[in-house]
Amino acid sequence: MKFFIDTANVDEIREANELGVICGVTTNPSLIAKEGRDFIEVVKEITTIVDGPISAEVVSEDHDGMVKEALELAKIHKNIVIKIPMTAEGLKAVKILTEKGVKTNVTLVFSATQALLAARAGATYVSPFVGRLDDISTDGLQLVSDIVQIFDIYGIETEVIAASIRHPMHVLEAAKVGAHIATVPYKVIMQMIKHPLTDIGIERFLKDWETVPKK
Ligand code: E4P
Repeated sequence: MKFFIDTANVDEIREANELGVICGVTTNPSLIAKEGRDFIEVVKEITTIVDGPISAEVVSEDHDGMVKEALELAKIHKNIVIKIPMTAEGLKAVKILTEKGVKTNVTLVFSATQALLAARAGATYVSPFVGRLDDISTDGLQLVSDIVQIFDIYGIETEVIAASIRHPMHVLEAAKVGAHIATVPYKVIMQMIKHPLTDIGIERFLKDWETVPKK
């Protein structure tokens, strides 16, 4: 499983990129709004940090508007992936963008049948939202597992991004069910690095090192 970082904060993206563990970035309008900066300026800066797929989301609700926005965003950099909401208009936009060679990430996916339709429309990626389903007492990881299984059965090349990840257990389970990618907030990447026994181990090694005779 590959990792994307799920943020529009360039400091977090820079820091995670230096760790060598991420190969892409996902943003959404809420994440962009948190930064209080111009959307295009943020996306352009992200393209200078990470050399991999960078998802930028459209906000139009009709397919013509989505395609128009998408084509402008796609001009920014070859790595831009257009995030399109899972609606009938979104599917039409995915079809058109796919024919034009523009990569898409169909977002706000909450059922396996939505994911299958998105894939058939030509989506490069689908993003099932794990955390938001868990929030309403529905098993988000079961959805990821179902999509992976269905795509495997039919040899569908669309990649599954486990999104709306809230904690390391979501990452572990997404990896176990075969998600191609998990898009993970910075905080969760940091939580994944940490283990109390690693910290205790370092402390003990350093303490013992002090007793080694030095010339
Ligand atoms: C990423 O593609 C999604 O927009 C993001 O993971 C949503 O996360 P949230 O449910 O925590 O807002």
